[in-house]
Amino acid sequence: MTAKPLFLLTDPAHYEVSYVINPWMTPGEWAQNRARHSGAARQAFVALKRAIEAAGADVRVMEGVAGLPDLVFPANAAIVLDRRALVARFSCVERQGEESVFLQEFEQLQNEGIFTEVGTFPEGVFQEGAGDCIWDKTRGQFWAGFGQRSVRASLDVIKDFFRAPVVPLELISPRFYHLDVCFLPLTGGEIVYYPPAFSDAAQETIRALVPADYLIEASDADAAAFSVNAVNIGRTIIMARPPERLKRLLEARGYQVSGIDLAPFMMSGGGAYCMTLRLDRSRDDGTSSARPCRTAAEAS
Ligand code: ARG
Repeated sequence: MTAKPLFLLTDPAHYEVSYVINPWMTPGEWAQNRARHSGAARQAFVALKRAIEAAGADVRVMEGVAGLPDLVFPANAAIVLDRRALVARFSCVERQGEESVFLQEFEQLQNEGIFTEVGTFPEGVFQEGAGDCIWDKTRGQFWAGFGQRSVRASLDVIKDFFRAPVVPLELISPRFYHLDVCFLPLTGGEIVYYPPAFSDAAQETIRALVPADYLIEASDADAAAFSVNAVNIGRTIIMARPPERLKRLLEARGYQVSGIDLAPFMMSGGGAYCMTLRLDRSRDDGTSSARPCRTAAEAS
């Protein structure tokens, strides 16, 4: 029997929308009714945690910190693979205070034996964690976004630290500022993606590496509903309430979709995936059998 998946979440006690670093953020709307939005955020957090647990995973919750509202998005904390973590460097000053908080949490995880090594990016090499660097178990590679928050120079650091293939994908839209809001590899090998978020070259890369019948295009509505920003555990996909079309499409492929009202977090430009970080991600736990892919070498 394999161990349960383990996800890190951050308690939303200090969550608010108080600045604008992406086009979805609405501090004015938040300020109009802080108590109501905070209450709704707590409910949404509890619903997400329950859905993750119901899908068979464990959840670890870290405390929030006043003045660092976006700590509730630990997907941006680090890239994790094989019990090693590479802690993020945030490009926006508003979030840079999170680095030391996350670093402390990861050192604690190392003390507890969950991680064997915790690394950091060189100064000035911005990279915003698993939000911009997603492990694809089916293909045995990272897909890494750059061009909005994370810089291209981060890709070599990732490759060297993990000794794993890293496929670069340039992001061209400020609305889709992290890879995880427009790109979602699923356990069956499918990739859900929102083409307009990517440069032409990135779209070609995706199409060269993923067979057409494994590519699922998200619509404008799907992307705007933060449905691509989902947590996939086995055959369960947990996401902000999805448009019906996407839900049916995923169900037709044998997934169960668990839609949650994450409106308070969408006011900050985040959905389900952003609110989590998978801590037990490993490259060879033997769960992928089908190989609906070409390797980078075969495709070129
Ligand atoms: N307000 C946050 C920001 O703009 C939202 C982060 C969402 N995280 C994510 N991985 N997409 O940084």
